[in-house]
Amino acid sequence: KILILDFGSQVTQLIARRVREAHVYSEVHPCDVTDDWVRRHAADGTLKGVILSGSHASVYEETTDKAPQAVFELGVPVLGICYGMQTMAHQLGGKVEGGHKREFGFAAVRARGHTALLRDIADYTTPEGHGMLNVWMSHGDKVVEMPPGFKLMASTDSCPIAGMADEARRFYAIQFHAEVTHTVQGRAILERFVRDICQARPDWVMRDHIAEAVEAIRRQVGDEEVILGLSGGVDSSVAAALIHRAIGDQLTCVFVDHGLLRLDEGDMVMDMFAGRLHAKVVRVDASERFLGKLAGVSDPEAKRKIIGREFVEVFKAEAARIKETHSRHVAWLAQGTIYPDVIESGGAKSKKAVTIKSHHNVGGLPEQLGLKLLEPLRDLFKDEVRELGVALGLPAEMVYRHPFPGPGLGVRILGEVKKEYADLLRRADAIFIEELREARDASTGKSWYDLTSQAFTVFLPVKSVGVMGDGRTYDYVVALRAVQTSDFMTADWAELPYALLKRVSGRIINEVRGINRVTYDVSSKPPATIEWE
Ligand code: XMP
Repeated sequence: KILILDFGSQVTQLIARRVREAHVYSEVHPCDVTDDWVRRHAADGTLKGVILSGSHASVYEETTDKAPQAVFELGVPVLGICYGMQTMAHQLGGKVEGGHKREFGFAAVRARGHTALLRDIADYTTPEGHGMLNVWMSHGDKVVEMPPGFKLMASTDSCPIAGMADEARRFYAIQFHAEVTHTVQGRAILERFVRDICQARPDWVMRDHIAEAVEAIRRQVGDEEVILGLSGGVDSSVAAALIHRAIGDQLTCVFVDHGLLRLDEGDMVMDMFAGRLHAKVVRVDASERFLGKLAGVSDPEAKRKIIGREFVEVFKAEAARIKETHSRHVAWLAQGTIYPDVIESGGAKSKKAVTIKSHHNVGGLPEQLGLKLLEPLRDLFKDEVRELGVALGLPAEMVYRHPFPGPGLGVRILGEVKKEYADLLRRADAIFIEELREARDASTGKSWYDLTSQAFTVFLPVKSVGVMGDGRTYDYVVALRAVQTSDFMTADWAELPYALLKRVSGRIINEVRGINRVTYDVSSKPPATIEWE
């Protein structure tokens, strides 16, 4: 295995992810583990190498964090990244200085191809024969003097020592972040380190993660009971399946049906979890309660707040009931928090200036309920969660579904939410999704559902005139929305084939009595958002 020592960088988990991508097992531990701990950890001979992460502190503040010195005495390869390089330099007798200016962003690094780490890895070669790497830098301090035994491995104009190596001891260090995708060859560099230099066996697969996670959950929970809010979304579904695998009936899932779900969604969730996985699932039909509270409310933010608040209330009541009626101690609240959520909530404190949309948020719930938090997906990225879901036996259709917002159709029915509107919208939306799944793009062979990141139908509570047979109609309008995006922060409307749009509109107007007009939303984000409210 590879030991990753975390100095608090926001991207440490990305290092772990890259190591997983190289099919090598790794563990992330805080940098302040003791020398003794490190030696014990290495005693059985399975430790093949150590990676020292970056630190948030190297950008914003001073830090004196050091790696346990034992790391350098184990005889295994060590790779320092960013702050990890600086502490390596410092601890082994080199010199680090506060940079006069912070370097943040892209940089071109001249890589000296003579080290095992960077040999033959380059984005392009200069006429003089230097291998060049396009990398991502983010640092203030820098190494100004290499420790004894080290030679220069890479440099940039503003950072003459951007990489160094002591190949006899197999110590390598790079000032740039190899773990982020902006560093084009980053994946190759990390793979080279763990596979070739550390000689770690590339035999780790998602199934191993299941075994580890199951063990960890059992250890953490013991014989106590866990409750989990199941939404039918990817994250909570995968968390439920994983926890169920670990502790079976000690898990109770609570599925709150707010009446604003997609067509047949509630039944599908029940069928999957109660029917096929044999998990304990309590379905709370709260649609009347939600629709009642939403009656007469048309302001989008007010609607979001109501739905969020009611959701928490209903969940709390149900959790309290379960706590009272269960014989065993209910001590845990499980959540499908994934790594990007962790980053977002940490980052949100300093950055977020305005609230564009209040997100459905169940933060604070565990404290109110007196429960401990169980978050088995905390270290994983979305695509890994999906892979895990498939490995756990969830159907690919469920795991690769487009995201669905917590407030559901509540934000897709413009203005006041009524049951009649929700019923019409559900049927129109189901047709749109069905046709997207059916239609394949000739050049890629993929379905248009898979070619779009999110697609749905929006209900507009306005009526327009139409003609059907010999009669005049005066019915509602829906808008189709389909976007392509990699991060949902920006998005382009999808250029769906006209033939597909034609089929969808024809079917909706013919099959959903009450809708006589279909439009297609051709707005990108920004300035439009993906959802209409
Ligand atoms: P917008 O509309 O802001 O949406 O461009 C970006 C992404 O976030 C989803 N979304 C939500 N997800 N709770 C959620 O869980 C919410 O309240 C919420 N509002 C928007 C939206 O579907 C899109 O994927």
